[in-house]
Amino acid sequence: MNEPVVVPDPAGVLFELEMLGGSWERRYRKLRPEVEDMPWGTLDPREHPEHLVLAARKSWTGAAFQEHRTGAACAETLRRLIECRAPLDLVAVASRFPLDEMVHVELCARMAMELGGGTEIRHDPDAMILEPRLDRSPLQRCAELVVFNFCVGEALSIPMLHGTWQASVHPLPRAILGRIVKDEAAHGIFGWAFLDWAADQLTEGDRARLADVADQAISAIHELWADIARRPPARDSTVHALGWMQTEAYLALARRSMRTKVIEPLAKRGIHVRSTEERPAPPRVER
Ligand SMILES: [Fe+2]
Ligand SMILES: [Fe+2]
Repeated sequence: MNEPVVVPDPAGVLFELEMLGGSWERRYRKLRPEVEDMPWGTLDPREHPEHLVLAARKSWTGAAFQEHRTGAACAETLRRLIECRAPLDLVAVASRFPLDEMVHVELCARMAMELGGGTEIRHDPDAMILEPRLDRSPLQRCAELVVFNFCVGEALSIPMLHGTWQASVHPLPRAILGRIVKDEAAHGIFGWAFLDWAADQLTEGDRARLADVADQAISAIHELWADIARRPPARDSTVHALGWMQTEAYLALARRSMRTKVIEPLAKRGIHVRSTEERPAPPRVER
């Protein structure tokens, strides 16, 4: 008899989360007590214009989903680090990253709830992360995941989160972003530590393939920037209260950080990305 075939829902699966509660939640809270220490209940969405609150709910729900994807990416990378026998201390530090990301998922999701609730996100769980190429050696496939997830994604997220944290004025988003920034410091430098350890074992061909992988990750980030460019304009105080940076300031910092925190450190390690061109963002549609 044939195995049943799972046909993915073309509309995608709803991104929603639950807690099991009881002793499992207590164990989790004990591991990361800072989640409950956030100043929950201090932000009143009624003090802000409705359309901006809706945009902020979308933004924080999107952030929760990005953290969820990053959790899967960190877990996959962790497996590949073990497979290629990366240094034990490096692997041990990386084993904390999936837990950090789950904490970030909860923080962002609860921030959306404080603003009135999460918004609908549908996704394909089979297409959340870069799958490693199994025709590569364990070191090569691990390096590809590290470059995609850490040298691009996580290295860029540190200055962006730090900038958003600095710009946020309300205690709640400020505490949430401050916590995430603290955790992300180790995530952001991890990729470089791995590449420096692996340097002697990587060939020129490997580095050229790693540049392709970095290009792929950079293009995906350019698409996110195009989405951000379509956010509704708003006065500084409101945007900062809801945990954003002003769009232009965010994009300027993002472009600068992509160059100094991603492209230049990769080039220093012999990984030269080719296409750094952004596709022009489609015009903003007023609704
Ligand atoms: Fe994170
Ligand atoms: Fe991270």
